[in-house]
Amino acid sequence: MMFSVSKIDKLMERMTLAEKLGQLTMTAAGYAVTGPVIAGDSTDSIRNGTIGSLLNLAGARHIHEMQRIAVEESRLGIPLLIGLDVIHGHRTVFPVPLAEAATFDPQIWERTAREAARETAADGVAMTFAPMLDVSRDPRWGRTVEGPGEDPWLAVQMARAKVRGFQGDDLASAESVAATAKHLCAYGSSTAGRDYAQVDVSERTVREVHLPAFAAAVAAGAAAIMPAFTDIAGIPMTAHKALLRDYLRGELGFDGVLVSDYNAIRELINHGVAGDIVDAAVLALKAGVDIDMMAGAYRDGLPVALERGLVTIDEIDLCVRRVLRLKERLGLLDDPYRRGATTETPDAIEARRRLAREVGTKSLVLLKNAGDALPIAARSARVCVLGPLADAAREMRGPWAAAGYDEPSVSVLAALREALPNATVTHAEGVTIDGHDASGIAKALERLGDGADVVVLCLGEAADMSGEAASRAFPELPGEQRALAEAVLERARGADIPVVVVLFCGRPLIVPWLVERADAVLVAWFPGREAGHAIADVLTGRTSPSGRTPITWPRALGQIPLFYGQRSGGRPENQADRFTSKYLDAPNSPLFPFGFGVTYGRVSYANLRATPASATAGDVIEVSVEVTNEGPRAAEETVFLFVRDRVASVARPLLELKGVTKASLDPGATATARLRLPAADLRFLGVDLEPVLEAGEIEILVGPWADPAVLLSSRITLRV
Ligand code: NOJ
Repeated sequence: MMFSVSKIDKLMERMTLAEKLGQLTMTAAGYAVTGPVIAGDSTDSIRNGTIGSLLNLAGARHIHEMQRIAVEESRLGIPLLIGLDVIHGHRTVFPVPLAEAATFDPQIWERTAREAARETAADGVAMTFAPMLDVSRDPRWGRTVEGPGEDPWLAVQMARAKVRGFQGDDLASAESVAATAKHLCAYGSSTAGRDYAQVDVSERTVREVHLPAFAAAVAAGAAAIMPAFTDIAGIPMTAHKALLRDYLRGELGFDGVLVSDYNAIRELINHGVAGDIVDAAVLALKAGVDIDMMAGAYRDGLPVALERGLVTIDEIDLCVRRVLRLKERLGLLDDPYRRGATTETPDAIEARRRLAREVGTKSLVLLKNAGDALPIAARSARVCVLGPLADAAREMRGPWAAAGYDEPSVSVLAALREALPNATVTHAEGVTIDGHDASGIAKALERLGDGADVVVLCLGEAADMSGEAASRAFPELPGEQRALAEAVLERARGADIPVVVVLFCGRPLIVPWLVERADAVLVAWFPGREAGHAIADVLTGRTSPSGRTPITWPRALGQIPLFYGQRSGGRPENQADRFTSKYLDAPNSPLFPFGFGVTYGRVSYANLRATPASATAGDVIEVSVEVTNEGPRAAEETVFLFVRDRVASVARPLLELKGVTKASLDPGATATARLRLPAADLRFLGVDLEPVLEAGEIEILVGPWADPAVLLSSRITLRV
């Protein structure tokens, strides 16, 4: 039997102020995966009803024990809400979100979220602080790794898929968890890519780039939303009435829970908008934040605020009701022990590993494959695996493998040895990831001197160099890796040995010199549990690579922020004219555009059609293009549909993504890729920021990535 609304009413009638504020208070259980020990005073607080939710707790036994205290020993017996970050898998560590974005495959996003939800729920947890939907156009920002990349359309697709995956069909199911779309919003625009720094973006960019994914998450039924740590133009998101209350609750009709970020309410004091904890609590409450994560500001500040008449009990009650309603929707009021009641079967765990491998494989992005250096399978008897990330099983897990099974992932070295049992696979680290001792380079060269048919050079960042509080002013290869790479490339070139670089990173790295000189470059991001297997699958040709970069790769630091959806400006680049938009010392073009990635096939595009040629608002424009694999190997091609509105009341971006589809192509095969473009999707925000559909010509551009030079183009006319 569900708690009815009147039951919530009855609870509300019985609650003291302290108990109400308890429902709005979330406290950390002290992070430990296998044996969380909650501080004694928190246990007491659960008992006396002054803590209503916990974060950073996993493990059904411990969670059930906490629930038992809440349910049996607290006066009103209200179960706890237990939340946890499940960023790229819970127990089974999947590829990092940026890597998953590179699959451009909503079904994959949903499947990994579903499986992660099952594992999370099996651990007794009812809520996750995911998906992270922050659009990022600045590789310096460490949290780029946690999100969908640079494109708002892609972020929207990811929002829908992830919310569906986490929440399933029924939030009350023992296999579902509440999703928290975060971080609202524009956190990815932190000044200079420095985490937590101020944000200054136009309202247009907020609405066009940063909000759509949150609107999509709300439409998909996301149970919760987390405001960003950052401000926008001086107004911290935790206190941003216009965006939280007016936009989110008002315009979008979001009636779920707003959970603050960690200590963010107290940090309103640091922001300089609150003088003390009372002020801070008032600001957050007035903006509509329901749960205070870790600041204790509601618990300590709101009683004073109430006394001073700065807030009303009705305002507090509204938040309490929303929290209780979430607990009810999750089925917690009905049966607080339903999550974590069953144990995971070995089959389920094994199936998730296979999924991790599949997704890992599909998220790899092949940036270069000169002279068909890859795949290495057939002809290689001697494979020399070098670099600090070659046998770095721990690093493969990525930056937020929080509660992942305590086991190392599969390293590239181990997987290559497994995949190539007849080959001689030699190995040397050369240098550490970020150390400054270059003395091991000689040993790496020795290995190479022993003879090799191919070098697999594994370079990149350590897992903890991206993620929260991991901004980098130099998003390049750390430590002495460049010295190692240059020495290896030099020696290999002399011996005519191809060098395949496998690059691990949570963001685009600025390595034009490396791309220039290596024969092949495979971006692995951080693939998680099955890293080595996924990479070996692609290196050996068992699978053809199909990932595409969801974020532009700059050539130079000074180009940042660099993204494909820029506007033309009044003086677009013209090499013949000094007074146009460009640099004196670097091209404007990226090293690799958004969507870039090659396959083992050679795919050509022809016969783009878009009909009807003249469309009205209710029409769906059918777009088709023929793709042919002219290469000798099978390929899965990712086909992008962009539009450009060349003349509009507001200058539009050079390209806007509107659709993606895939085509599996055997050698020699031709397929017709079809995409549907509802004319309504051509709406944009007019001068007054209201959506408009304007009559005129729309360019339809289809092709392999966001470079106008490789896109086929057609035009339609829009009549309104
Ligand atoms: C801070 C992070 O910004 C947020 O993404 C996360 O959910 C919370 N900490 C809780 O761990």
